[in-house]
Amino acid sequence: MKLNIALLPGDGIGPEVTAQAVKCLQAVEEAFGHSFTFTQAAVGAVAMEKGGDPLPEETLEICKNSDAILFGAIGDPKYDNDPDAKTRPEQGLLRLRQELGLFGNIRPVKAFPTILDKSPLKKNIIAKADFVIYRELTGGIYFGEKKLNEAGTIASDICEYSEKEISRIAHLAFKAAKVRRNKLTLVDKANVLETSRLWRRVVRKIGESYPEVELDFMFVDNAAMQLILNPGIFDVILTENLFGDILSDAGSVIGGSIGLLPSASVGEKHAMFEPIHGSFPQAKGKNIANPIASILSAAMMMEHFGLKEETQAIVNAIYQSMKQNIVTPDLNAKGKYGTDHVGEYIANNIVDADDHLSMNKE
Ligand code: IPM
Ligand code: MN
Repeated sequence: MKLNIALLPGDGIGPEVTAQAVKCLQAVEEAFGHSFTFTQAAVGAVAMEKGGDPLPEETLEICKNSDAILFGAIGDPKYDNDPDAKTRPEQGLLRLRQELGLFGNIRPVKAFPTILDKSPLKKNIIAKADFVIYRELTGGIYFGEKKLNEAGTIASDICEYSEKEISRIAHLAFKAAKVRRNKLTLVDKANVLETSRLWRRVVRKIGESYPEVELDFMFVDNAAMQLILNPGIFDVILTENLFGDILSDAGSVIGGSIGLLPSASVGEKHAMFEPIHGSFPQAKGKNIANPIASILSAAMMMEHFGLKEETQAIVNAIYQSMKQNIVTPDLNAKGKYGTDHVGEYIANNIVDADDHLSMNKE
C-alpha cells in the first residue's frame, strides 16, 4: 500500500516520540513491502516562532493532501500562564481538527498485562479494563462562542450541539460496540445540561437501529469514579468533547502511564493519529519520554487502513519491549533506556508473522 503521511511533530517531546513512530512505520514498510512517504510540517508553538501562526496555511495544505497525519504534541509553558495571550499553540490543533472535520476521536484504554503493577490502582481492578472512548472532537464548549466583557470581569463559553453532530459520532460508536462486547455507555450530565438531554434523545433513537448493542447512560461525575473503581464495566464510552478530554486522562491511570495511550481522530475525508498526552515540556530533549503512545498511534493508523497484520506486528513488538523491560523511566524508574533506544528496539522487532513462522520452520 502507498501512503502519503503528513508528519506534524509539534512541541515539547512531540518530535522525539514521533521520530520513534516513524522508525516503526519504516520497519512496517520494509517487513510488509509498503511504500510510505513522510512530509514534515510545523504546528503549535514551533510554528508560531517561525511566523506567528500555530497552523500555517502550508501545514494545512500538506495535511489536506495527505492520506493520514501523524501528530506529536502541542503546547508550551510560555503561553500557559499568560491569560492575555491572543494566540496559543493549542489553537493550531483545534483548527486542524475543525478544518479537516475530524469529529470522532477514538481513545482505547487497556492495561498491558506485563505492566499491571505500574498502575497505582489495584491489579485485580485494572486487569479487567478494556474499553474505548469515543469523544466528539469538533463541537461543544471547545468551539462555542467565547466572550469576555470589557471590564474583564465576566467570561462565558457556549456549549452547543446539533443533532447532526451527535448522530455522526454516535453511529461510529455503535458500530464499534458491535465488533466489541456490544455495550455502549453514553456519558453526560443530563440532570443539569440541555445539550446532554439532546444527546440522550438522539443516541436513544439511534440505538433502536442497533438492537444488539446494550445502551446505558451515566452521569459524568459518576463515570469519573467508576472509571477508577470499576473500569471493567465499560466497553464503548460515547461522550462529548470536554467530558471525553477529562475522562481519557483519568483513564490513562489504568495503563500505568499516560505515555501509553494513543488516539485516532477521524472524519469523512481525513484521519489523524496522535498520543493523548501533551507536550511534557519538562522532559523535552532529555530522551526520557515514552514513545509508546506515539508508536501505538501509528498502529492505529495501520488499523485504519485495514492493515491488520501490520497493526499486530507493531503491538507485538511493544509487548516484547515490555517483557524485556526495555522501557522508559516512567515504567521503570531504575531503567536506563531512552526514548530513542526503546523506539529502535520496538522497530527492530517488527516482523511479518508469516516470515517469522517460515524462518522457524527452516
Ligand atoms: C487532547 C489535548 C487537547 C484537547 C489540547 C492540547 C487542546 O488535551 O488532545 O486531549 O484538549 O483536546
Ligand atoms: Mn486532553
